[in-house]
Amino acid sequence: MSIIEKVKANPKLKHLVLWMLMPKNQARPRLWVKCFVNPLKHKKGKGSLVRRRTRMDVLPFNQFVLGKDATIEDFATINNGVGNVIIGDRTRIGLGCVVIGPATIGSDVMFAQNIVVSGLNHGYRDISIPPSLQAVETKEIIIEDEVWIGANAVITAGVTIGKHSVIAAGSIVTKTVPPYSVAGGNPAKILRHYNPETKNWEKTTN
Ligand SMILES: CC(C)(COP(=O)(O)OP(=O)(O)OC[C@H]1O[C@@H](n2cnc3c(N)ncnc32)[C@H](O)[C@@H]1OP(=O)(O)O)[C@@H](O)C(=O)NCCC(=O)NCCS
Repeated sequence: MSIIEKVKANPKLKHLVLWMLMPKNQARPRLWVKCFVNPLKHKKGKGSLVRRRTRMDVLPFNQFVLGKDATIEDFATINNGVGNVIIGDRTRIGLGCVVIGPATIGSDVMFAQNIVVSGLNHGYRDISIPPSLQAVETKEIIIEDEVWIGANAVITAGVTIGKHSVIAAGSIVTKTVPPYSVAGGNPAKILRHYNPETKNWEKTTN
């Protein structure tokens, strides 16, 4: 059993360790964690860039990986508190985007502005407990290589977006999008798909 597994299995120890890592009721790490622990724990590829005005709510007990030549633009937020956040090579997380793990984002992915990707949902089913106090549920989001996501899109927990697909601006993606598709709307539907025989991006009749 690793140290992390031992801590996770012991509620009192977990509480103490969490308190040491981040202030009570906050999602962000303490300064010492940010300065001394995270740089040792998390891998950042050569040429990668995290702009100065980001909010990096990354903690050492889950993974945060940033690929080679990848960029996280200003005003973006990355949170790995409840699940790993993996970002591939040459991927760009645009201005004001929010990525909450568990989320795996491939290489050569483009995020426009103000996109929310959240592998976390708050529990709400028990009516005697406020959702804020219920356990969170997580389902990994997977965004494959070469995806382009338009501005203001929301990707909900558990969704996979297939290789080289496009998500239209303002879409709410609640279901998996196959590779080589254009999806859009709320809830997002497949608008086009690539036909390898005709070599055209053909309109889809939903
Ligand atoms: C999806 C997009 C790339 C256009 O792709 P396209 O294949 O050229 O699509 P078309 O314009 O031919 O539209 C195809 C259908 O999708 C619909 N559509 C296009 N964009 C849409 C959107 N954002 N939401 C919902 N439906 C959309 C069109 O109305 C059209 O519907 P119809 O078949 O009923 O007429 C573009 O609309 C878009 O959203 N771009 C993102 C822009 C952005 O965020 N830029 C930020 C800088 S990176």
